[in-house]
Amino acid sequence: MKKALGLGFLCLLLWSESAEAQFPRACCTVQGILSKQCCPPLGSDPANVCGVLSGRGSCVTVQVDEKPWGGPYSLRNVDDRERWPTKFFNQTCRCNGNFSGFDCGQCKFGWIGPNCDQRKTPVVRRNIHDLTPEELQEFLDVLDLAKTSIHPDYVIATEHWLGLLGPNGNEPQVANISVYDFFVWQHYYSVRDTLLGPGRPFKAIDFSHKGPAFITWHRYHLLTLERELQRLSDNPNFAIPYWNFATGQSDCDVCTDSMFGGRDPENPSLISSQSRFSRWGVICNSLDDYNRLVTLCNGTNEGFIQRGMMERANMSLPTMTDVRSCLGIRDFDSPPYYTNSSSSFRNALEGYEKPDGQLDDSVTNLHNLVHDVLNGTSSMSHSAANDPIFVVLHAFTDAIFDEWMKRFAPSNATFPDEMAPIGHNRDYNMVPFFPAITNQDIYIPSEQLGYSYAVVLDGEKVLILQSVEIVT
Ligand SMILES: *[C@@H]1O[C@H](CO)[C@@H](O)[C@H](O)[C@H]1NC(C)=O
Ligand SMILES: *[C@@H]1O[C@H](CO)[C@@H](O)[C@H](O)[C@H]1NC(C)=O
Ligand SMILES: *[C@@H]1O[C@H](CO)[C@@H](O)[C@H](O)[C@H]1NC(C)=O
Ligand SMILES: *[C@@H]1O[C@H](CO)[C@@H](O)[C@H](O)[C@H]1NC(C)=O
Ligand SMILES: *[C@@H]1O[C@H](CO)[C@@H](O)[C@H](O)[C@H]1NC(C)=O
Ligand SMILES: *[C@@H]1O[C@H](CO)[C@@H](O)[C@H](O)[C@H]1NC(C)=O
Ligand SMILES: *[C@@H]1O[C@H](CO)[C@@H](O)[C@H](O)[C@H]1NC(C)=O
Ligand SMILES: *[C@@H]1O[C@H](CO)[C@@H](O)[C@H](O)[C@H]1NC(C)=O
Repeated sequence: MKKALGLGFLCLLLWSESAEAQFPRACCTVQGILSKQCCPPLGSDPANVCGVLSGRGSCVTVQVDEKPWGGPYSLRNVDDRERWPTKFFNQTCRCNGNFSGFDCGQCKFGWIGPNCDQRKTPVVRRNIHDLTPEELQEFLDVLDLAKTSIHPDYVIATEHWLGLLGPNGNEPQVANISVYDFFVWQHYYSVRDTLLGPGRPFKAIDFSHKGPAFITWHRYHLLTLERELQRLSDNPNFAIPYWNFATGQSDCDVCTDSMFGGRDPENPSLISSQSRFSRWGVICNSLDDYNRLVTLCNGTNEGFIQRGMMERANMSLPTMTDVRSCLGIRDFDSPPYYTNSSSSFRNALEGYEKPDGQLDDSVTNLHNLVHDVLNGTSSMSHSAANDPIFVVLHAFTDAIFDEWMKRFAPSNATFPDEMAPIGHNRDYNMVPFFPAITNQDIYIPSEQLGYSYAVVLDGEKVLILQSVEIVT
């Protein structure tokens, strides 16, 4: 009975991106970069490339999307992220069956076992407010551990493709990075400008927002982080929680010292020193500097997380009505598959149109509104993932998408296969995930990817549960 009550309460309140890398450390040698081949051996036998000796995979030419793209990026062959990842590597492992990973040493999401032939019982992503104190502690502790643990497999490129081997051509320009900062860096890399020359950025490009890949990119981004956190906490059943941001309030109920940190009374744009997150450094924030110097974010600490919730006192978070409203939009996306798409579920959830699908240039809602209300680090897309609220914010965004998938059971054809902005066509390899994974690969129900949500976003179900609760 307690459970029914809890669930009813939850429903009432609610509405409602490891190919990980950049590149595997094993491939970032001079020879690996020159050959453009990234097919490391699995285990110690050098002949076992891609686990070929045990039938796990083989080294093949990377497939890229050849369909035309639309959107504002009209340049050609000037950005390292075009035809991803072939500017860097044109041969990678293709894994058979349920095998996965840069060396086919892992299972695809949703599968486990030595032969990857057992379905993983989906881990359950729950409301952060419903975690026990121990579960909350485990989550915060493993985030902290991820912030300080060097990523075991992947490194970041600190220069563009042309400069990747350094001034003398014999020194790969790559750097170690922590597991959490790697997550931050990937988000930065997907939204950064095209660099045409010193101080000449081309800004109208975004591989993870303003188009249909917004949904699939962030979903995969979270999945890879969740897998790393499972490994770091040595708990294969660990699930990231979500934050139901649809409170309609102007304050942030997870910005407390027991969760993501309250405000610092001395400097209201910083996090209280009572919270561990006040000590988290931010990376990839100096976009203008990188543009001026024609370089990439190299993972250097650039200061502390900023939040400004209260300064925007006249703004409030989305409501459950907004969430239910966007769930009524049948079409996943609509031409031109951009910020000015109307009657597009994706565009409504992302936040560029009204939650009911009406286009209105002045609108900021749902996902975008939450980032804006948080202000500071969270409100700039290149740096947003530095604030760990990003994880729970996007988990809820993904839960809304998951509910939409359950309602409409969309075929893969509902994801545009051409004329979406660059990076957003169905078969485009999502930037900068490696090895290649397409938008379509992730456009499937969450259970098939090994997770689910403990949330009921459906209006009618909410009513039923409430009446059950009253009867009991
Ligand atoms: C892959 O890159 C290598 C090195 O630049 C080049 O020699 C080879 O022709 C490329 N292969 C394909 C299929 O593009
Ligand atoms: C994954 O493993 C299951 C169980 O062996 C099998 O039925 C399924 O076909 C495999 N998936 C792929 C893509 O091979
Ligand atoms: C990067 O990390 C790896 C593995 O922890 C280590 O072997 C290597 O020396 C590190 N490289 C640098 C430049 O710190
Ligand atoms: C990293 O980038 C910063 C500027 O963003 C620069 O000051 C620093 O020298 C770079 N570090 C390395 C090791 O290149
Ligand atoms: C606050 O919002 C209300 C309603 O949206 C609006 O009428 C008012 O002008 C706003 N006040 C400020 C100071 O922006
Ligand atoms: C959408 O925006 C793009 C870029 O600003 C513009 O070229 C296009 O005409 C707009 N389409 C619609 C349907 O408004
Ligand atoms: C934070 O909010 C203030 C006040 O509304 C606004 O002027 C500022 O642009 C916001 N900062 C960011 C980074 O969005
Ligand atoms: C798209 O879905 C259809 C029907 O489920 C399937 O037959 C087809 O193989 C899918 N396309 C791709 C490229 O996987």
